[in-house]
Amino acid sequence: MTTIAPVAFRRTVELTIDGRAVTAREGATVLEACRAAGVEIPTLCYLETLTPVNVCRVCVVEVEGGRALVPACSRPVAAGMVVRTDSDRVRTSRRMVLELLASSVDLSTAAGDVHRWIGEYGARPERHGPSAPAAPTRPHAGHHAEPEVGSAATVVQPVKRDNNLYVRDYAKCILCYKCVEACGEDAQNTFAIAVAGRGFDAHISTELDVALPESACVYCGNCIGVCPTGALMFVTEHDLRATGDWDEDRQAVTRTVCPYCGVGCNLEVHVQDDRIVKVTSPLDHDVTSGNLCVKGRFGFAYVEASG
Ligand code: SF4
Ligand code: SF4
Ligand code: FES
Repeated sequence: MTTIAPVAFRRTVELTIDGRAVTAREGATVLEACRAAGVEIPTLCYLETLTPVNVCRVCVVEVEGGRALVPACSRPVAAGMVVRTDSDRVRTSRRMVLELLASSVDLSTAAGDVHRWIGEYGARPERHGPSAPAAPTRPHAGHHAEPEVGSAATVVQPVKRDNNLYVRDYAKCILCYKCVEACGEDAQNTFAIAVAGRGFDAHISTELDVALPESACVYCGNCIGVCPTGALMFVTEHDLRATGDWDEDRQAVTRTVCPYCGVGCNLEVHVQDDRIVKVTSPLDHDVTSGNLCVKGRFGFAYVEASG
């Protein structure tokens, strides 16, 4: 007798996105349904390899019958849901998020999409006035010193350069929590960094704010790999940018397998002028999901030494 193996059927739900009937997998998020339908939703704190933390709210959409806008990156679809991704309310909310971030954080090295969204949503960070001078000391938790009238308070602070591998420039940090997630239970399970402080004083910190070499950090660089603004950056990239020599048009990216052990992690080696300037890892690779260890991420000096 022939036995026929049971076929696993996936349940689906019907919903409407911007007036269009679509079908999505049960349990999918509104973001996934929108992407499958070709509708772009901006995201900052979301990454497909990390648990959604819902902190940036730039992905909000309007759901008919709902009082508040909902974050598309974490809200599951439901049968009969009517979603609007481009209403006035949605656009105003996204514009406000982008405008407040761009007025208080240095987004100069943020991904290109962020600059495109700022333009597309009509965010005008300049209307908050020029940046106020950096606060000499951090405010007490819960207290935000008033900026000068007509100027925008910012999170500007000196670049932290306390090791040879990567710098932390928290003047560029939008507090998306991605680095914390990658360092914690979503990937590395090292928990070297977390969010400290409250309100405008909230910031990413090592335990007791110690320098990185004194912290639990193992230099996997997985936090660098997920940072959307360039707040965390290879020393090589940081120094080339400082001298005006960083040029992605002159860079070649080669995908290869890490030579150090048998796990098979995939590397993307970025080379400019015959020099490796940084190493990333593809998010969609089933071995690494974008993550590496210190050897794969930073152990490339021998290539130049032996070249
Ligand atoms: S380099 Fe790795 S261990 Fe160190 S803070 Fe980043 S994710 Fe955590
Ligand atoms: S350092 Fe980067 S990844 Fe970490 S919270 Fe700030 S912007 Fe996000
Ligand atoms: S991307 Fe959805 S809340 Fe940040």
